[in-house]
Amino acid sequence: MKRFTVAAVALTSTALFVATACASGEEIFNAKCMACHPNGGNIINKSKTLSKKDREANKLKTTKELVKYMRNPGPGMTKFDVKALPDKDAKAVAEYIIKTFK
Ligand code: HEC
Repeated sequence: MKRFTVAAVALTSTALFVATACASGEEIFNAKCMACHPNGGNIINKSKTLSKKDREANKLKTTKELVKYMRNPGPGMTKFDVKALPDKDAKAVAEYIIKTFK
């Protein structure tokens, strides 16, 4: 698992290759989401952080809703289709977000 952590530091564009089968939600998050959502924040739209408060205000409460959002995100966010982020990985990231950003 360590090797993914190393890759995760490489951020944004170079990070896209990290979506391999056994990466954890945290590792995927660090690789694919961290650039725009450091510590669960949002460097582009400050009213749409990954905090529980913002997520709930924007009706993103469940794993399912979060996965759906990744498939069809708001303006400024990279779109993650099934190819970029398989369902299993998308779910793992969603679970990580729910459990990590309060
Ligand atoms: C290129 C920058 C960028 C990347 C990379 C990115 N996001 Fe986002 N994200 C945004 C922006 C911008 C918004 C706000 C969009 C809007 O205005 O509706 C957002 C919004 C969100 C929201 C909604 C938050 C809320 O409170 O409404 C979630 C959930 C989210 N992103 C998850 C992710 C996940 C998971 C990943 C990685 C798989 C990711 N994002 C990668 C830029 C990014």
